[in-house]
Amino acid sequence: MDRLVIEGPTRLSGSVRISGAKNAVLPLMAASLLARGESIIENVPDLRDVRFFMEVLQILGARCRLEDDVLRVDTRDRQGWEAPYDLVRKMRASIYVLGPLLAAQGEARVSLPGGCAWGPRPVNLHVEGLRHLGAEIRLEEGYIHARVPGGLIGGSFRFEPTSVGATANVLMAAVRARGVSELANCACEPEITVLAEALQEAGARIAGIGTSHLRVEGVAELAPLHHRVIPDRIEAGTFLAAAAVTGGEVQLEACEPAHLDAVLAVLRSMGCEIEAGPGTVGLAAPEVLDPVEVVTRPFPGFPTDMQAQVMAAATLAQGTSFLTETIYLDRFTHVAELRRLGADVRVDGARATVFGVSRLQGAPVMATDLRASAALILAGMAAEGLTTVNRVYHIDRGYERIERKLAALGARIRRVPG
Ligand code: UD1
Repeated sequence: MDRLVIEGPTRLSGSVRISGAKNAVLPLMAASLLARGESIIENVPDLRDVRFFMEVLQILGARCRLEDDVLRVDTRDRQGWEAPYDLVRKMRASIYVLGPLLAAQGEARVSLPGGCAWGPRPVNLHVEGLRHLGAEIRLEEGYIHARVPGGLIGGSFRFEPTSVGATANVLMAAVRARGVSELANCACEPEITVLAEALQEAGARIAGIGTSHLRVEGVAELAPLHHRVIPDRIEAGTFLAAAAVTGGEVQLEACEPAHLDAVLAVLRSMGCEIEAGPGTVGLAAPEVLDPVEVVTRPFPGFPTDMQAQVMAAATLAQGTSFLTETIYLDRFTHVAELRRLGADVRVDGARATVFGVSRLQGAPVMATDLRASAALILAGMAAEGLTTVNRVYHIDRGYERIERKLAALGARIRRVPG
């Protein structure tokens, strides 16, 4: 397993280009199963999760090709309706094929994803939502087995709590159901909006895009998708937090500031100067960061996927910060590793209290999940001495060439193949 070796402290400076959003690409890839033909998705990052989802689609008979940043998914020979355990256990997002397979083929068998480092992560809303569109669903031998012999029919469903994955899955099924579906308390994340827009362009009829209530009039057929993926707001936020924690100055290119409001507000409250323009955000960090209070919420609130990186920054703030999770209450596996670098953090239920320290000291640490790994890299760049981040395969799931991008900003970071 590869490791990243970081020599700190460094002050990042320069500009960095933001890649396409992982969490927007995956549902678009799944949605390509809804049509027969070649779907084209542009601005696709070359990530482990993308490569992995290509494998899932290939098992289902689709042909996938990623060249430069253009992904082609040809579903003309699509067949099969099972996403086996061996694939799903490696990537939870494989469950995105459930709705499209059911809509396109009337049957789907998808392994139940297990828990993860953040806790149990249920999929009841995916299942219940599809049941409300007429699917017969049984849970057997660790699999979700769904059937709709007579085809899906429009129905009403309210997501409680709001869920990105369940909204995407049920929406992808509803666009090809007979009749009208009313979906309430939908996720409004930009990744859902881009999915709905891509489906709309392919012939779906969806009203309320960008809001929490979607009204879908089912259509019998969809054309293949042709869409460009939005910039990755979490990658963007991670580079901004990296500039903040290293006392640096960074300019993001090819990003979407409108998706970053909550993150920018938090970084501003830590004393960073931020200037946003069309497709760009510049951040200049103060010498010492101010403490911050953060509560994770669904979009447009502060994203849970940025909690660990902001915590890394808060470890060096002058004062006490509070970070509260409302989405994944256990999402604090990075805390023990940050402590190894000298951070002073206490976790009480879903709330972390971060007592700012004046310096961090490099140490070997272990990445436990994707965003936790990012937080450790950030802290490692600010820490004095050598930090080795083990198990970096987590980071390769969701950040494109992160060590190269950081090195171009002045970080002393190298990958050591394992
Ligand atoms: C997606 C993102 C993930 C992000 C999360 C929250 C992808 C591939 N992943 O995950 O990076 O952290 O959104 O923004 O896009 N829930 C249920 N029942 C369900 C489904 C979810 O109770 O059937 C709950 C979850 O436990 C959680 C909340 O709903 O408390 C939100 O989860 P959800 O939005 O579904 O997260 P994902 O789509 O899995």
